[in-house]
Amino acid sequence: MTVLGFLARTMGKTGMVKPSSLVKPVALTRIPGRYLAHQESLPKLPVPPLKQTCDRYLAALEPIVDSEMLKHTQELVMVFQAQGGVGERLQKGLEHRARKTENWLSDWWLQTAYLDYRLPVVIHSSPGVVLPRLEFSDRQGQIRYAAKLIAGVLDFKSMIDNETLPVEYLGGKMLCMNQYYQVLSSCRIPGIKSDSVVNYALNKKRPPSHITVVHNYQFFVLDVYNSDGTPLTVDQLYIQLEKIWNSSLQTNKEPIGILTSNHRNSWGKAYANLIKDKTNKESVRAIQKSIFTVCLDAPMPRVSDEMYRTRAAVQMLHGGGSRWNSGNRWFDKTLQFIIGEDGTCGVIYEHAPAEGPPIVALIDHVVEYTKKSEMVRTPMVPLPMPQKLRFNITPEIKRDIEEAKQNMNIMVHDLDMKAIVFPHFGKNVPKSYKMSPDAFIQVGLQLAYYRTYKRCCATYESASLRMFKLGRTDTIRSATSDSANFVKAMDDPIKQNSEKVALLEKAVKAHRAYTDMAIRGQAIDRHLLGLKLQAIEDLSALPDIFMDTSYAVANHYNLSTSQVPAKTDCVMCFGPVVPDGYGVCYNPMEEHINFAVSAFNSCADTNAARMAQALEDALVDMKTLLDQTPKAKL
Ligand code: COA
Repeated sequence: MTVLGFLARTMGKTGMVKPSSLVKPVALTRIPGRYLAHQESLPKLPVPPLKQTCDRYLAALEPIVDSEMLKHTQELVMVFQAQGGVGERLQKGLEHRARKTENWLSDWWLQTAYLDYRLPVVIHSSPGVVLPRLEFSDRQGQIRYAAKLIAGVLDFKSMIDNETLPVEYLGGKMLCMNQYYQVLSSCRIPGIKSDSVVNYALNKKRPPSHITVVHNYQFFVLDVYNSDGTPLTVDQLYIQLEKIWNSSLQTNKEPIGILTSNHRNSWGKAYANLIKDKTNKESVRAIQKSIFTVCLDAPMPRVSDEMYRTRAAVQMLHGGGSRWNSGNRWFDKTLQFIIGEDGTCGVIYEHAPAEGPPIVALIDHVVEYTKKSEMVRTPMVPLPMPQKLRFNITPEIKRDIEEAKQNMNIMVHDLDMKAIVFPHFGKNVPKSYKMSPDAFIQVGLQLAYYRTYKRCCATYESASLRMFKLGRTDTIRSATSDSANFVKAMDDPIKQNSEKVALLEKAVKAHRAYTDMAIRGQAIDRHLLGLKLQAIEDLSALPDIFMDTSYAVANHYNLSTSQVPAKTDCVMCFGPVVPDGYGVCYNPMEEHINFAVSAFNSCADTNAARMAQALEDALVDMKTLLDQTPKAKL
């Protein structure tokens, strides 16, 4: 792995920052420019004290490394943080950086976790969202829903344009709203060694007024505003989409979009070649500049009701392979809404510009909008035919497409996914025991993993840093000494239930305490990363603590997890971040929990369905333990 490789693999998978009780939307009055005033009032991300991070790092290692490794690391840490030592020097460098930048971390993070990351964005970086299945199963239903959805996104966009988005709060503190301004009209651009991300609307005199629609691998530019600046109505959109549908009936087209699924270096090279042609360049620009993309997908193979969510999840993540809908995408596009002819709907988004929160808030808004909006026939002027984007396919481009198809099919076969509804309870049960539901679920995950592997592993949970200006995420390390004590005791027949309950409570509290520390900018991972990047800038060699096996173990996240709560009964999904790991995303509703668990088939030791089952059993067993232990004893 490269110096920064672990970062990319361990970057924050999407989690949602809208815990409804904590994030209290406060309507802003419609004063343009208010956004800036709000942003200016946010505090800067702090640089935690060096000693605090060193102590907490050693504590975090306890459950996941053996005592010999720990002892060695303790010695390295002691040298690192000694007075006048290298740690102090790097800390000063970081503090200096923090003084002279808006956010000492955000540019580094964007670059190292996303833009320098060279694995395909598909599965390895871009999360998908599965929406509840819709009632339609034909072209008309598909187009009608697409029209409503587009109108819903434009309705949300008007709040962004007018700077009237309600400010969100977490733990009583205002959150940074910057990410909302990054998700529309933006696109990742491939490079040969590193990518970039461009927003075509911010500070532009003429922001884009079109979206792109892709059907049967053919891309169209659809202007979504009338000449007077009003958005097209649902009715108008329906007619335009119908025109697109009818002029893209042929299915034998080259799936040009599949190029975007390739390894970033390969795609970077293919991209340079693709846009040498003027027509191709203009077509690519039109996609990149569009406000968002709508993918009208062909139906996927039918599956049983039980398998439906899992199949929908893979459709969102990768499109099903080159025979199916993987070519019906532009994976570099920040936001793509997927609407299948069979009623399967969802989203895939490119992670570089934003975390899940703005995406899921937008989805919640759009889903509500589609329920309300009806198609009202109104007299209207005929609209021009949406422009079909042309591509000249040279033999070299054709070769690149074939290579991308093959690689995509390998990835498709390798992804092992299981999306389930945990039906037994939701946030209600932990709350009734006065426990944080998120912490309860995370401890459940620790139990499921321990039961399966008889060990604890480095575990990543995303924590929001949006209390700070331009804040992104830090890591909640869910494997703690307290969680280890509980999972080891849980199946120990010698232990009394009352003792197990006490250990469970302690583990849940420890997790919640870690969460509070993380969202206040005092977690260890981004700080350690900052010290490491500072060392890369300032020193000729990396300090020993970053070359240490413990550091590698700590950053090998066998469990990469994220809570993505939404009002909509949806589930977000993403791939594992290490070859022998799991990606686990969940949306805890009041009385049930939606989970998506992923793994790789190429790893003999992992199995998504088995882990999903272990998780279900763990959560049920934890509830039973609490139920069976009389309150007096708690
Ligand atoms: N007793 C009773 N109820 C409790 C409780 C307790 N001890 N602790 C928490 N609750 C309640 C909360 O009030 C809340 O109530 P609500 O359902 O009415 O909203 C609910 O339980 C959920 O709280 P909790 O489970 O503790 O989680 P959280 O909502 O605070 O979320 C994180 C925790 C880590 C997910 C959140 O802080 C976070 O950072 N999210 C952002 C993640 C992110 O940015 N991801 C992006 C990655 S790309």
